[in-house]
This record gives sequence, C-alpha cells and structure tokens, in this order.
Amino acid sequence: MKYTKLDENNIISVVEKYVEYYNSEGGVWTIEKATRRIRQIVTMQDSESFVQTSENGQITGFLMGYYKQFDDILLYYLEEIVVFKEFQNKGYGTEMMEHLETIVKANDAEHIELICLNDRMHNHFYEKSGYTASKNVFLMGKHF
Ligand SMILES: CC(C)(COP(=O)(O)OP(=O)(O)OC[C@H]1O[C@@H](n2cnc3c(N)ncnc32)[C@H](O)[C@@H]1OP(=O)(O)O)[C@@H](O)C(=O)NCCC(=O)NCCS
Repeated sequence: MKYTKLDENNIISVVEKYVEYYNSEGGVWTIEKATRRIRQIVTMQDSESFVQTSENGQITGFLMGYYKQFDDILLYYLEEIVVFKEFQNKGYGTEMMEHLETIVKANDAEHIELICLNDRMHNHFYEKSGYTASKNVFLMGKHF
C-alpha cells in the first residue's frame, strides 16, 4: 500500500468517497459538511493525516488526526480512520494503523488515543492492534 499526506490540497480525493460510504450506511452527509469536517483536522498545525492507495492506484481509505502536546507527553489523537466499503476486511485498516504507529513513533509521540463506538467490531479491530479501553476516562457530553 502507498501512503500520501492528506492536506488541504487533496481533500477532494477522499471527500466524495466519504460521503458516499457514510450515506450508504444511513448518514446524511453533504459534500460541504464532509469537506468542512476533513479540512478542520487536516489543516491543524500538528495534523498527521494520510490517504492509503493500493498498488494499482485505487484509494482504499484514509486516516486523520493530530499530535497533542502535554507537559509530560506528546501523544497522537486519531480523529478518524476509514476504509471504504469494498476494501474492508482485507487487512488494510490494520496496515494503516501500523503505518501510523511507525510515523508517530518517528515523531517522538509515545501514545495514540482515540474514541470509538463501543461495539464488538470496533473493539476487535483496535484490540487486534494492541489498543486497550481506558478504565479511568469517561466521555461526557450535553446534547441540546
Ligand atoms: C474499522 C475499519 C477502519 C476497519 O478496517 P478494515 O480494513 O476493514 O479492517 P481489517 O481488515 O484490518 O481488520 C478488521 C478486523 O475486524 C473485523 N472486521 C472488519 N470489518 C468488519 C465488519 N464490517 N464486521 C465485523 N467485523 C469486521 C475483521 O474480522 C478483522 O478481524 P480479523 O483479522 O481478526 O478477522 C473499517 O471497517 C471502517 O472504515 N469502518 C467504517 C468507519 C469506522 O467505523 N471507522 C472507525 C471510526 S472509530
């Protein structure tokens, strides 16, 4: 697989596939909303985001996130990983997570964290790559 930096200049290469994929799962994305979401992350100062492409040039998925500096640690926050439908379940997501780990280690980050749906598929996917659920952090929100 090949990896290319995802930045403001090539958002267009993934945005249509993103909308098509999530809307086929019941989402209500528009090109404008999806462009805004992806742009928010990939234009951050410490963004580390990339597109995954197969050997024959097909875009299989992408990943976006950013480094977060604290007093005692530099960590990477994974905002989102997507493998498009027809490429799922072939190991591409796992390979993308491995590629990410190599890059963030090379940039001196010591930890990757993320929030994901609490279901069996996501738990299995991340656990397979060595991720464990946090025991002392709750996600809190207020909806209005
Ligand atoms: C989650 C996701 C990135 C995984 O990518 P992937 O390339 O399909 O994953 P892999 O093929 O590397 O491996 C996934 C593992 O989860 C399982 N898995 C993958 N897709 C699955 C599905 N739709 N249902 C059930 N299990 C699934 C596979 O069995 C595999 O485990 P195994 O190797 O022990 O058999 C991909 O399914 C995806 O993009 N989903 C939609 C977006 C999403 O939910 N992103 C995560 C946001 S937190």
